[in-house]
Amino acid sequence: MRYPIIFDTDPGVDDAQAIAIAMAHPDIELLGLTTTFGNVDVATATHNALLLCELAGQNIPVARGAAVPLVKKKHPAPAHIHGTNGLGNIALPDVRGDAMPQSAAQFIVDTVNARPGAVTLVAVGPLGNLAAALQLDPEIISKVKQVVIMGGSIKEGGNVTPVAEANIFNDPHAAAHALTAGWPLTMVGLDATHRCTLKPHDMEAIATGQGRLGAVLADSYAFYRAFYQQTMGFDGCCPHDSCALAWLLCSELFTTARGHLTVVTEGDAEGQTIFAPEARPFIDTRWTRTPSVDVCLDADGPAIVDWIVSTLH
Ligand code: RIB
Ligand code: CA
Repeated sequence: MRYPIIFDTDPGVDDAQAIAIAMAHPDIELLGLTTTFGNVDVATATHNALLLCELAGQNIPVARGAAVPLVKKKHPAPAHIHGTNGLGNIALPDVRGDAMPQSAAQFIVDTVNARPGAVTLVAVGPLGNLAAALQLDPEIISKVKQVVIMGGSIKEGGNVTPVAEANIFNDPHAAAHALTAGWPLTMVGLDATHRCTLKPHDMEAIATGQGRLGAVLADSYAFYRAFYQQTMGFDGCCPHDSCALAWLLCSELFTTARGHLTVVTEGDAEGQTIFAPEARPFIDTRWTRTPSVDVCLDADGPAIVDWIVSTLH
């Protein structure tokens, strides 16, 4: 089976690796990249998306998207994790191509409408583009094949606050729209991605397998690795965004549960994703009002890392 996908992204070191997988895997038809602020500002994200495609020798449409969150004030980009250029501050070649004239949201709407029932949206950054697409054309809810989100956390706790994962925290109002829209959705959050550790020897294998693109992936990984060493105390990195694609193609490596998501949009818990398992009664209906979705609660980390390396080797 071949999956036509739109990959919504804020590249970003781990985004770059996931984009490489989306371009390389024979079971993925990459229809386009849509970009958002997040790890970097949206201009840098768009530049990086174009660059990664050019380094792979592929002509993939890139559409520029959300520059700021829907409601909250934008936080500064995490330059200490991804570098100011999003790719570990390594020297980068010039980009020759340009982004599409239409916005990311319009690109999503047009592409989904052109192939009803076929297109999967894989989103691995803040969710403003999905929220904007829903606003432009709510009928895409019944026309997408499925939506896979890297973001959120149920039992694992947060990575930017004690309870919030970065993509949801960066635009909780957009996440609240996208995660509760009623389309078929799977959330691949920290409960799964924190089970995966990509080691230096894995990156060496990827670097040899991916030519010019591999050099950028490996060199930017070195910066990301230093962040993990300093803050998490281990030698390796979590390939968050690649996990969304791993779920799409190898869902048997994940443990999922079905239920209702609520996104906290204000206060100390902003960005938290609250999960109410389906059919479990609670004291009030406020946590079970949203449509049912699938949420990853665990994953076979070593097997996912093997899949990433074998895809890019
Ligand atoms: O929390 C992990 C997510 O936020 C990933 O999408 C990564 O790129 C980071 O920005
Ligand atoms: Ca990302």
